Amino acid sequence: MNRIYLDHHATTPVDPAVLEAMLPFFSERYGNPSGRSHVFGHEAHAAVEEARVQVAALIGAAPDEIVFTSGATESNNLAVKGMARSPAVKGRHVVTTTIEHSAVLEPCRSLERDGWEITRVAVGDSGVVAAADVAAALRPDTVLVSVMAANNEVGTLQPVAEIGAICRERGIPFHTDAVQTVGRLPVRVEDWNADLVSLSAHKMYGPKGTGALYVCKGRRPRLRIAAQAEGGGQEHGLRSGTLNVPGIVGFGAAARLAGEALAAGEAERTRALRDRLLSRLRETVAPLEVNGALHPRLPGNLHVSIERAEAEVLILSLGGRIALSSGAACAEAGGKGSHVLRAMGLPDERVYTALRFGIGRYNSGAEIDAAVDALSAAVAETRARSSPVPR
Ligand SMILES: Cc1ncc(COP(=O)(O)O)c(C=O)c1O
Repeated sequence: MNRIYLDHHATTPVDPAVLEAMLPFFSERYGNPSGRSHVFGHEAHAAVEEARVQVAALIGAAPDEIVFTSGATESNNLAVKGMARSPAVKGRHVVTTTIEHSAVLEPCRSLERDGWEITRVAVGDSGVVAAADVAAALRPDTVLVSVMAANNEVGTLQPVAEIGAICRERGIPFHTDAVQTVGRLPVRVEDWNADLVSLSAHKMYGPKGTGALYVCKGRRPRLRIAAQAEGGGQEHGLRSGTLNVPGIVGFGAAARLAGEALAAGEAERTRALRDRLLSRLRETVAPLEVNGALHPRLPGNLHVSIERAEAEVLILSLGGRIALSSGAACAEAGGKGSHVLRAMGLPDERVYTALRFGIGRYNSGAEIDAAVDALSAAVAETRARSSPVPR
């Protein structure tokens, strides 16, 4: 049996057209976009600017609102620490949630060590943050609100448009980590009232090591962000360092393709595959429970706990043929299981039997069926092994 990849929240393969667009920028077009005294620099600069237009177009932004980074971890660090440490802000209070990615939680912890106060808004077992709880956490000294657009484990969509509107009314900058959403659902930053949005190329069939931070230019007073990487002043001084031209070109191509795929109904196609996966799992491996609200959720996400089938054991017995993630895997939790599932209040049995499926662009219905067949055999075997032996 061929390998089946169902872990698209972890990363996605590079689209062949993206790779093709990138290749010349490793070989004949290797100029530095900052060095424009010759044609090599000019062509690299032009390629970066074209990619900036493509990435901006995918989220309804202006090209000069895109700051290229080395990925969403850097974008999140720049947004959170850069806003909190901005010379323009006076307060020392940040609001976030308990279900953010560690690339937001850790910068918040680092601020906390330096004297900032962090309010982490809790979620219930729906895995969806209530906008009213975010509103209730705001204080006169709040300098930033950071709430992800979609959770990377349970796939739940957060009410970012509502939260953004509340923040805008109170004049508080709003950041959202939209890594899992952009490219998978249509996004217009304006609809979210977002001031800062983190993106990552490798979650949308682009290369790893390339991302962006959208920084709203229209906001008054203007956002002043403290650069976290200082040096040659690239990217409006917000992110110094020679630009990763092949990566950025790939990101641009990936953004263009994602826009085309969304217009052609890719979200609906993936959602139908996810629904098929869930109904086939219900037929073959019940009892199981879906973790987090099924709606609203990323179209390709399914997160389930399968009763009496420990996820790590299942994954091992699938022998790497089916790539999916144990929902409990989380480096940050130090072996205690996913901080997201814990934050949702799930008991141990649900945490250790949790599986995350991430369906993507190249998955077919036949692959979903083959994965369910393999998984249901593995579940039966695991349950048989753990059943008490009759005397
Ligand atoms: C929600 C979320 N934020 C941030 C990141 C980090 O992105 P990158 O790998 O581009 O640093 C990830 C990747 O796993 C993610 O899922």
